[in-house]
Amino acid sequence: MFDLLIRGGTVATASDVFQADVAVKDGVIVQIGRDLGEAKETVDATGRYVLPGGIDSHVHISQPSGEGIVMADDFESGTRSALYGGNTTVMPFCLQKKGEGLRSALNDYHALAEGNCYTDVSFHMIISDPSDQVLGQELPALVEDGYTSLKVFMTYEDLRLSDAQILGVLDTARRTGALVMVHCENEDAIRYLIGRHEADGDVAPKAHATTRPIAAEREATHRALSLAEIVDVPLVIVHVSNRESMEEIERARQRGRKVIGETCPQYLMLTADDLDGMDWEGAKFVCSPPPRDEASQDACWDGIERGVFDLYSSDHCPFRYDDPAGKLNPRGRESFRHIPNGIPGVETRLPILFSEGVMKGRIDLPRFVALSATNHARTYGLYPQKGTIAIGADADIAIWDPAERRTIRHADLHDASDYSPYEGIEITGWPTTVMLGGRVVMADGQLTGEARGGRYVARERPFRGNGLPDGSGTGA
Ligand code: URP
Ligand code: ZN
Ligand code: ZN
Repeated sequence: MFDLLIRGGTVATASDVFQADVAVKDGVIVQIGRDLGEAKETVDATGRYVLPGGIDSHVHISQPSGEGIVMADDFESGTRSALYGGNTTVMPFCLQKKGEGLRSALNDYHALAEGNCYTDVSFHMIISDPSDQVLGQELPALVEDGYTSLKVFMTYEDLRLSDAQILGVLDTARRTGALVMVHCENEDAIRYLIGRHEADGDVAPKAHATTRPIAAEREATHRALSLAEIVDVPLVIVHVSNRESMEEIERARQRGRKVIGETCPQYLMLTADDLDGMDWEGAKFVCSPPPRDEASQDACWDGIERGVFDLYSSDHCPFRYDDPAGKLNPRGRESFRHIPNGIPGVETRLPILFSEGVMKGRIDLPRFVALSATNHARTYGLYPQKGTIAIGADADIAIWDPAERRTIRHADLHDASDYSPYEGIEITGWPTTVMLGGRVVMADGQLTGEARGGRYVARERPFRGNGLPDGSGTGA
């Protein structure tokens, strides 16, 4: 007798689409086929897609964000929102403050997550202070313990690392097998442009976009890829917003480098014009890199279709808009420079890709699965435990109704921000039922009594199980 049987649906993986029932026991998928027998619980998926639960590998939750600024989501609201958006695993960032030990930062972050998660979670470290102690002892020990990825910044005054520091981190990654994600924007160029705009009294949110031009992102992308080449390590270039940076990734791959590219919904759906709102409304769209123009949107779709991007993540980084601890903090009302960077989007990430990508014929269902789950698992050492529908995999499953039509309204979403940057966008296709470790945690759009059982997941070193030669992306 199985614990759970999903009957009558169309199953999709990153390589195949087929009609099958899926049987679950003790939290894992144990059979896939027809006429599988009886189960304690049956879910009818007729007319719907049975997909691996989404993995959002770029999410900010409860991250310290500057004096007087508070991120809108904690683990409860952030993972609840993720679950409603068809995700079963999210990967938030644990920030090392300057002078702080990595273990102490992680202990604090685990304490915030413990018992509060609706999805499974796994953390990337943010390294802001790569001291000898951190690179020599702490980071290698953490990699052994399953914290196998980390992010470094080339921008933000308080977070950016010098090129020499980045080389030190990359070298440690090579020794330990960790994977480095890089935020690529040239901080000095941005500082210079900010100074010029402020001197001209040009301080409205729109200036956030003009002080962070494509050239600043492209240059930093090229530099990060060069530093990784010098040390000979793979690299993840996160939240890519434009064609010129994509070309840097493609050129590095042509040189035989292993580079993973990531883009996000904001670069497919928003433009810099959105930052030009009346009454400071443009603050709702302030994120870095900023949304660009329609040509850049087309370029990013092209990158989604052609495989320049292996990952499509939300970069969910939620601040409330009308809040003194959010976008409209007292200093943020005075200058774009003090508007916290980041926008919410963990719940809308997958519906946007399904509707704009699959339903509009830009990508097929296997590519959707690759971009939403499988490639995240392969890249960050969760595969094949997660990210696919296969015998032995965790029964983390989202059932999608391709006919469900909704208009995105923040009032219907479940994060703790007070707006959605995607308000009013019409969506076809939405996840209606979600299973986490074989438990039905959301059914027909409602949380069940089984919800909030998300666990922390330690990870293998990246790329385990992807079976691809070095120099390729995740391949799907
Ligand atoms: O504006 C953004 N993206 N904020 C989140 C932090 C980051 O750089 O990913
Ligand atoms: Zn970033
Ligand atoms: Zn981010």
